[in-house]
Amino acid sequence: MDQIRIRGGNPLKGSINIAGAKNAALPLMTVSLLTDEEITLSNLPHLADISTMSHLLSDIGVDIAMDGNVSGGHSGRTFNLKAKDILNTTAQYDLVRKMRASILVLGPLLARCGKARVSLPGGCAIGTRPVDLHLRALEQLGAEIELSEGYIEAEAPKGLSGAHVIFPTVTVGGTENILMAATLAKGKTVIGNAAREPEVSDLAHCLIAMGARIDGVGSDTLTVEGVDRLHGAEHAVLSDRIESATYAVATAITGGTVDLIGAQFDLIESVSDILMRAGVEISKIDSGLRIKRENDSIQGVDVMTEPFPGFPTDMQAQLMALMTIAEGASMITESIFENRFMHVPELCRMGADINVHGASAIVRGVDKISGAQVMATDLRASVSLVLAGLAAQGETIINRVYHLDRGYENLEEKLAACGADISRIRG
Ligand code: UD1
Repeated sequence: MDQIRIRGGNPLKGSINIAGAKNAALPLMTVSLLTDEEITLSNLPHLADISTMSHLLSDIGVDIAMDGNVSGGHSGRTFNLKAKDILNTTAQYDLVRKMRASILVLGPLLARCGKARVSLPGGCAIGTRPVDLHLRALEQLGAEIELSEGYIEAEAPKGLSGAHVIFPTVTVGGTENILMAATLAKGKTVIGNAAREPEVSDLAHCLIAMGARIDGVGSDTLTVEGVDRLHGAEHAVLSDRIESATYAVATAITGGTVDLIGAQFDLIESVSDILMRAGVEISKIDSGLRIKRENDSIQGVDVMTEPFPGFPTDMQAQLMALMTIAEGASMITESIFENRFMHVPELCRMGADINVHGASAIVRGVDKISGAQVMATDLRASVSLVLAGLAAQGETIINRVYHLDRGYENLEEKLAACGADISRIRG
C-alpha cells in the first residue's frame, strides 16, 4: 500500500488550484438517473470516489463519457452522463461499502423507476451513520420500504407523492435524496429543517436547470413542486470549500503565504472566522483567496462543529492539527459524528498534547511536534496528519493513504509545488 513521506518545516509559498467539490459532484452525478436526456457536468474533481460513483452508475445503465483536464486544474474534467434506459435498479454491496454516498441513488431510482434495491451502507470509521432519516422521509413520499439481507428494498408502484417532511436532525445526504425524489413526485413536497450546505444548493441549481421547480434554495425549507419529467442540462460543480479550508490550514501551520485559486470566501466564512481569530490573514484576491501567516504565532481558539453555516465537521481534524502548535489551549467539540477523534492518538504520537472528554477535545499547544509513523483512518483524519507532518520536525510517514485519494486531488503535487518536501512511496 502507498505511503506518504513528509519532511516538515518548509513554509508554503505559491498558489494552489482548488478543485470541484467532491460532496457536490457525487449527488450531481446521480441526477443523471432522473432523466433520459444528457447531463453534462464540468469541473469534476479527479478522485477515487468519483470513479466509484461512475462505476455504480454505469452498472445501473448510465452511459458516461469523459474528457477535459485531469491534471488538477481549477477547471477539472467534464462528464457527459446519459441514462437512456435504466437496466438495473440494484446498487451492490461491493460498491456501497466503498462509499456511503452510494445511498444517493435511492431517491432518484425510486422516482424514475418506482423501485430500487440499495445495499445498506453500514458504519464507518467516524460513526454508525445510519440512513433511517432517508428511509423515513421516502416513506412519507409514499415509498414502501423493507430491509432484507442487508439491502434496502424500496417500491413505489403508484409513484411518489408530495408530502411535508421535517427532518429531526439536519442531514445533508437525506436532504439531497428527498430533494431529488420530490422533483418527480406528484404534487408539492416541503422539506423542513433541510441541510443548507452549499453542496445541497449546487444540486438544487442543477435540478432547476433540468426543469425542476424548487423554491427556498439555500434556506432550511425547500419547497418542490413535482413535474412529469426532467430534461438534460449543463452544470459546473462548485469549488471545494473543504479543500480550500484544508490548504488554508496548511499555509497557516507552516507559516507561509499561498493563493488559493478558485476558492470562494462565502463558502468558508465560518472557517475563515476561526482562522483569523487564531492569527491567520485571509484576503480576497481576483483569482480567489490569499492566506498568510508569517511572523505571528497561532493562538488557541475554541470551536464546535455544526451544520452549515457553522464550522464544518469535515474541517475539525485539520483545525485540531493547527491547534497542536498554538499558544494556549483550545477546546474542539464535535457535535455531528460521535466517533470523529480517530486522529487524536496519531497526533499525540507526533508529540501533541490532546485529551478527549466525551465529544470535546482539549488541545494544549506545544512548542513543536515531531515526525513519526502514523496511520490514516478516514479521509479528513488522514489529511490532518499530512498537515501535522508539514509542521513537524523530521520525517513523517503516513500509512493507508488511499483515504486521501478519495477526497484530495493531486495532494502531494499541490503541496510540493508550494515548497513542501512531500512524496508518495508506492507500495
Ligand atoms: C455529508 C458529507 C460528509 C459530511 C457530512 C456532515 C457527502 C458525500 N458527505 O455526509 O462529508 O461530514 O455530510 O456535514 O456529502 N444521520 C442519521 N440518520 C440518517 C442520516 C444521518 O442519524 O438517516 C446522522 C449521521 O449519523 C450524522 C448526522 O446525522 O450524525 C449528519 O449526517 P449527514 O449530514 O447525513 O452526513 P452525510 O450526508 O452522510
